Amino acid sequence: MTDITRVLGDITEQHVDAVVNAANSSLLGGGGVDGAIHRRGGPEILAECRRLRASRYGRGLPTGQAVATTAGRLPARWVIHTVGPVHTEEEDRSALLASCYRESLRVAAELGAATVAFPAVSTGVYRWPLADAARIAVRAVRETSRAGDFTELRFVLFDPRAYEAFGEALGEATA
Ligand code: APR
Repeated sequence: MTDITRVLGDITEQHVDAVVNAANSSLLGGGGVDGAIHRRGGPEILAECRRLRASRYGRGLPTGQAVATTAGRLPARWVIHTVGPVHTEEEDRSALLASCYRESLRVAAELGAATVAFPAVSTGVYRWPLADAARIAVRAVRETSRAGDFTELRFVLFDPRAYEAFGEALGEATA
């Protein structure tokens, strides 16, 4: 039985097997979650990202895909980097956002991770509206939760608005 949970907190402080990073296609760091993970996780993560760029991902990690590295100094074993779509009214990129969660879980299952922490991908710099992002995330995680022997799949929200949005999406009574 896989628990799908939500917590209000900092994803870099989660004691889980795998932490999902809201990266960009360069894999070379950024702000938000990306900045926090590299800052707290230390240089080993970036070193491994550079090796990925020099080999498998010469042109960068495509939107909606996921790749794992060490978690460096984070209280986790792996970081799974995924690239969310930038929100636009011009086209529906929902499938790409769902793919971030599905592909991250596929990679987590390959690694044998039992516990995974997700940020609210694309809802910061990439401007995806929270309620819609939460709905897409919860549905994708629920539908992919049997891909591995997961005991806990945890959404880690950084502010109360996001925490509420994911509570709604999870169908949990808002406190
Ligand atoms: N822990 C958990 N959630 C966090 C943290 C943290 N330490 N820091 C920020 N967040 C939240 C934000 O509040 C937002 O709800 O993560 C969500 C995603 O925001 P971003 O980190 O901006 O990610 P995203 O919107 O996917 O944009 C990705 O931003 O940081 C750059 O390099 C990154 O170019 C990429 C882009």
